[in-house]
Amino acid sequence: DVLIGPGSKELMFLLQLVYYGDLVIPTPSWVSYAPQAHIIGRHVRWVPTAREDHWMLTPQELEAICKKDPQRPRLVILNYPSNPTGRSYTVKDLKALAAVARKNRVVLLSDEIYGELHHHGRHVSIARFYPEGTIISSGLSKWCGAGGWRLGVFVFPPALRWLLEAMAVVASETFTSTAAPIQYAAVRAYEGGLEIEEYLWHSRRILRGIGTTIARRLEGAGVIVPRPQGAFYLFPDFENFREELGRRGIRTNEDLCHRLLEETGVALLPGSAFGARSDALTLRLAYVDFDGARALTASHDVPREKPLSQTFLKTYCDAPLSAVERICAWLLR
Ligand SMILES: Cc1ncc(COP(=O)(O)O)c(C=O)c1O
Repeated sequence: DVLIGPGSKELMFLLQLVYYGDLVIPTPSWVSYAPQAHIIGRHVRWVPTAREDHWMLTPQELEAICKKDPQRPRLVILNYPSNPTGRSYTVKDLKALAAVARKNRVVLLSDEIYGELHHHGRHVSIARFYPEGTIISSGLSKWCGAGGWRLGVFVFPPALRWLLEAMAVVASETFTSTAAPIQYAAVRAYEGGLEIEEYLWHSRRILRGIGTTIARRLEGAGVIVPRPQGAFYLFPDFENFREELGRRGIRTNEDLCHRLLEETGVALLPGSAFGARSDALTLRLAYVDFDGARALTASHDVPREKPLSQTFLKTYCDAPLSAVERICAWLLR
């Protein structure tokens, strides 16, 4: 049972509209889940997470929220690989989260829009372990680099067909359908094949190369940063610089963001946009400012068994690397 629409974001909005329940999301979470709930008037329960867990949800934290009122209907959104952290869950994590979700009969929306961009191609869906209660969300935007084409996909289990039907009613009264030419493009994308597998393999190697290089560089400068496992984001935490930044008048992640933009020209997003407290010194860094087509062509000439060299990354993906150099120089100024 599959529903397609003009972007998974639109489908998420429809789901929140038709499903009467609290929205449960970990802190930090992608920027649109909570505003959608606010527009519709749903309660948002932010679940705290810990730096030691790389800001990912633990079964204990989910259980603690569900235990407060076990009968309450809840929509839990899990996103992995994650925007903003670039982290994903292990199979063990997924099994444990699935057990809590089943016990509390939550509706689970598994936002796997970056699944194909797991840096080692090892994405696993929680739907394997909680099939009856999981809706998988994905689309063309990220792995096809087609965010403007607007095609999102929800995959429902038989037990949640009633939700698909309710969403289809609203879809029929609002956007009607996804534009036909885009549907044809999606048919081609989802047919897969060798050409698409090759494209994904090289995309992953490039993202893995930039992500780990930047994370290592930031770590070397004293910034705490979860090592990325997928997507194209990092979530650096400048806690170790709190005193020094305080002396420069920087006390919140919004201050930090503004000052970095003004003084280094590098644009990041404050952690608060993802639900972090203002006084947490976390930011989201996206490392996509390079010519992907050029980097992909060049990656074909590098033997498959080799990681991409620093020279390769400097030549084809320089903007994010030099932006991070500017951030490090600014920190140690
Ligand atoms: C985690 C996450 N989910 C969903 C979306 C929305 O994607 P779509 O283009 O399918 O609406 C994004 C886009 O930034 C995202 O980062």
